[in-house]
Amino acid sequence: MGKILSTIVAFILAINTNTVVYEQKSIDKERQSRVVLENEIQESVVVDEIVAIKSPTISYSSSSSGWWTYPSDIKGTTRSGDDLLVLVNKEYQLPSKYTPSDLVSASLSGIRKGESFLLRNILINDLKELVTAATADGIDLSIRSGYRSYSTQVSTYNYWLSVNGGSISATDKISARAGHSQHQLGTAVDFSSSEIQDGLGGVFSSTKASVWLANNAWKYGFVISYPSGYESVTGYNYESWHYRYIGKTYAQEVHTSGIILELYLRSKN
Ligand code: DAL
Ligand code: ZN
Repeated sequence: MGKILSTIVAFILAINTNTVVYEQKSIDKERQSRVVLENEIQESVVVDEIVAIKSPTISYSSSSSGWWTYPSDIKGTTRSGDDLLVLVNKEYQLPSKYTPSDLVSASLSGIRKGESFLLRNILINDLKELVTAATADGIDLSIRSGYRSYSTQVSTYNYWLSVNGGSISATDKISARAGHSQHQLGTAVDFSSSEIQDGLGGVFSSTKASVWLANNAWKYGFVISYPSGYESVTGYNYESWHYRYIGKTYAQEVHTSGIILELYLRSKN
């Protein structure tokens, strides 16, 4: 009898020990993710093999239909992710498994902080030219975000959701849901500058670097994605720092026509 009792006690203790170990592991993983996410908010995630923070249960269907909302029928992108003209927005989503085929370190372009990010090789030479031209004009540029995997987008969106107290409408104005971010293409760059200590956000619009990019980025194949005054078209707040590479020829066409990138790409997809 005594033996049976001690076996039962040992069994219960074993279960508890396992539970404690399991919980500790989960906490460690969560902590790890949070650290990476803090970096992402500083937009300095390098390799994004991170565990997504458990997603809160959200009902995305919204009764409102403000300019920031997603349509009810989400479609897959009509061009391949590797195609420079693929339209990725709130309506057209990339496959979760899509990863660009030619990711390399952004540092190959010579941009400051490039070692922390990945970009497509196809744009490296043009980015190098852009950085060289900016430097010659006395402008300092750094990169604060480049390629973002599908799982990083999940984490990033959920981070902003928690920062915004669970407000989906506030979050949808600033952060793309997974599969909907141009950062998954490896051709979107978030720029910053020593003028603002490499910070990211609205303050970038007050820099000389921001003005320089607005005037010159197109010459090197880069176009602003979310311009001021077009929030209801793009579905996002103005992002003075977020540029997408579409190549010199197409960027020149966008510049000359005066059309914004979103509408230009809609016409091509
Ligand atoms: N901040 C832009 C919209 C993104 O999340 O891709
Ligand atoms: Zn961005």
